Amino acid sequence: MDQITPNRRTAGGAGWDRVRRHTLLDRTYHWLMALCVIVLMATAFLPILGIKFEWLDIHWITGVALAALVLIHIVRALFFQDWRNMWIGWTDLRELWRDTARLLGSRSALALPGKYDAAQKLYHLGVAIVILAVVGTGLLMLLKIDTPFWRRNPYWFSADTWGVIYVIHGFAAMAIVATVIVHLYFSLMPDSWYLLRAMVRGWISGKEYAQHYDPSRWKA
Ligand code: HEM
Ligand code: HEM
Repeated sequence: MDQITPNRRTAGGAGWDRVRRHTLLDRTYHWLMALCVIVLMATAFLPILGIKFEWLDIHWITGVALAALVLIHIVRALFFQDWRNMWIGWTDLRELWRDTARLLGSRSALALPGKYDAAQKLYHLGVAIVILAVVGTGLLMLLKIDTPFWRRNPYWFSADTWGVIYVIHGFAAMAIVATVIVHLYFSLMPDSWYLLRAMVRGWISGKEYAQHYDPSRWKA
């Protein structure tokens, strides 16, 4: 399913010329979603830093676009992709434990992961929670503004409830800044350039597959 060029010369995946990692649709999703998140962060935080411009229309329209993208991704992930690729199981927790022990000097053996390693899955879970929180509260906050499609109606919720909604939106937005910085740092490190290529062109080489993944956990 994930293979592009069948050329099975050696065992363990090294004989594949290329192994598909992300389809065009998934890559388009990642980059459009990233663009939306960056525009949302810029329109949220630049005015606070003193750079004033008409930020609200760009912000809410991009937020609605992000909501639509995430909805499509969830339907696709649950019904058309293998959700187990992102599922955090006992093996991942053991892997995280071993990684931490190794950082502290232990010499335990390095186990090869499935399609995503434990840290990537944890990152995905964190991002999914904060993005769903920011998008969910953001959609409710549309009730507070006038747009060409509807008039504002702030009386749907009590002042206290609005307070909670704004606090969640603000905290989730700050958490996204932190998670994106960590994600950028790891994605741009030379060690991960093959993953950056995979997110641009879709594939990794058979050699990279054999070197970085356990074929019984991610079947090419
Ligand atoms: C309940 C919510 C979600 C579920 C069930 C879900 C599920 C998944 C699964 C199963 C994959 C792995 C697909 C594969 O490579 O085989 C994946 C990948 C991914 N997810 Fe999510 N996801 C959710 C929310 C989100 C959110 C909110 C974001 C926004 C940042 C996001 C961003 C991504 C990205 C960028 C990928 C990698 C692209 C790909 O190859 O599919 N996900 N997700
Ligand atoms: C613009 C700068 C960005 C770069 C260079 C970048 C790079 C990457 C790369 C290379 C991967 C693929 C990892 C793999 O194949 O295993 C990836 C996956 C992913 N990205 Fe990004 N990304 C960026 C922005 C974002 C933003 C803004 C978000 C959401 C807030 C995001 C969320 C994700 C998620 C959830 C995954 C899947 C989990 C993972 O593979 O770690 N990315 N990104």
